[in-house]
Amino acid sequence: GGLLPFEHAPYFDFSRPDTAQAQRDAFRQVRERHVGRTFPLLIGGQHEDGSGTFGVTNPGDTRETVWHFQNATPDQLDRAVTAAADTFRTWRHSDPLQRVSIFKRAADLLRSRRMEFNAVMTLENGKNWSEADGEIAECVDHFEVFARETLRWAQGKPVYPMPDEHVTTQYEALGVVAVISPWNFPAAIPLGMSLGAIAAGNTVIWKPASETPLSSLLMIELLHEAGLPAGVIQFLTGSDDVLGDPLVDHPQVRMIAFTGSREIGCRIYERAAKVQPGQRWLKRVMAEMGGKDATVVCADADLDAAALGIAQAAFGYAGQKCSACSRAIVEDSVYDEVLARVVAHAEAVRAGLPEENGAIGPVIHEGSLKRIQGYVDAGRRTARLVTGGDRVDGLHGAYLQPTILADVDPKDPLFQEEIFGPVLTFTRARDWQHALDLANDSEYGLTGSFYSRDPHKITAARRDFHVGNLYVNRKCTGALSGTHAFGGYGMSGTNAKVGGPDYLFWFLQTKTTAQRY
Ligand code: NAD
Ligand code: ALA
Repeated sequence: GGLLPFEHAPYFDFSRPDTAQAQRDAFRQVRERHVGRTFPLLIGGQHEDGSGTFGVTNPGDTRETVWHFQNATPDQLDRAVTAAADTFRTWRHSDPLQRVSIFKRAADLLRSRRMEFNAVMTLENGKNWSEADGEIAECVDHFEVFARETLRWAQGKPVYPMPDEHVTTQYEALGVVAVISPWNFPAAIPLGMSLGAIAAGNTVIWKPASETPLSSLLMIELLHEAGLPAGVIQFLTGSDDVLGDPLVDHPQVRMIAFTGSREIGCRIYERAAKVQPGQRWLKRVMAEMGGKDATVVCADADLDAAALGIAQAAFGYAGQKCSACSRAIVEDSVYDEVLARVVAHAEAVRAGLPEENGAIGPVIHEGSLKRIQGYVDAGRRTARLVTGGDRVDGLHGAYLQPTILADVDPKDPLFQEEIFGPVLTFTRARDWQHALDLANDSEYGLTGSFYSRDPHKITAARRDFHVGNLYVNRKCTGALSGTHAFGGYGMSGTNAKVGGPDYLFWFLQTKTTAQRY
């Protein structure tokens, strides 16, 4: 069999001098090859310029513009959708084994170029080496997982038989899928949604976040090198005025696969409900949105493990993950102790340039820092600032110290709203059931962690913790494709569960055929 048993791609060990040197070399090569370049749009397999370009800033050192991308025009949007609709006529009937071969080949190609992809991502969104590496490893896993899922869904499903009729249930593609993605996982997130679409036989308009387009374009070029036919994916960059509402509203778009903020996700959900003139279907919307993820620590837990898990999940990539731990909820009797241990971890974290593998890097831009500092400043009045809270001096970017606010009231916006930065709140719970109630006191429901050694409490958490991704005695970030199907409850979105066994169903429609002979 071509599909060997699955294994998750291992992470690089950058504490090894030769591995660290290889990553440094990759930065040098990426700088030589890509910095200063201007990249095109991709429509129906052709490169095109738009109407002017925009620059991509290195958040690690905002004095640097690393590369430029095109502003697509309304006409280019329209032609891209038409090209995707044209290619759909053939791609929908492509052999699933062809798709599998492309994904397997892409996995091999990416394995040999991981450090280059890491470096590009770091220069666009400020991930340090390990964070970028984790995401590119996830992309390798995605290729391997979607190869297997393609075959599984191509087989259809059995039905309860009846005499005299041959009945089949088969899955068919939908059409043109608009893939709209955020900057914080600029490779794995659009890749996951796009692989879902094309594995199922759909074609794609790939619209990356403007902060991080090269991480996307390199992945598309890799897919072409692996054999993906031209026109299956169109790549459009530019302003939200052209590629936001007009893309969502386009009557030839069959589905929108979105990951990003709650505000934009809700806007897309609402707009897509309107049937446009000429539209012959109800649009399907996948909208994966924000989080306000909690870690519950019971008094009987391994407190060292809990403190480490909280700190890693709160401050990794400066807290800019939908999965980040932003609320620690701790049982009264161990509250002060856990807080002290997490503060010690936070104070040991040194801010530094992502390109030099600083432990904590910048937030994505000044506007984001300003918004985050608004929350922190309010928290200085409504809660107890225990550590951090200030901008880091001496670096050219939006660097904020890891920040912890204690004794935060559940009604406080600090406890309820997604902050999306290195800001962690601590809230005291009377007992472990109260802690679980507080964790569930949220409109979101993406990830959650529960630390306890007591099987009775763990059983209750498994049942009552209202999240799509529950982690027991481990941190709440770092879902692995194929294993930790990812997607939340409540206002965290449509619970699409990327990397899970039902994900492809999102991109398919079901045909029942009953035949008599
Ligand atoms: P965002 O919503 O601002 O942008 C996401 C994408 O939507 C971008 O490509 C943007 O250009 C596009 N967009 C903007 N206006 C649009 C419109 N009117 N119509 C269609 N598309 C439009 O989000 P962001 O700041 O890039 O990302 C951060 C957010 O993403 C956080 O809330 C985070 O929690 C969330 N997120 C969620 C997940 C998840 O899996 N649930 C994963 C990563 C990030
Ligand atoms: N999938 C990413 C994680 O689990 C967001 O951290």
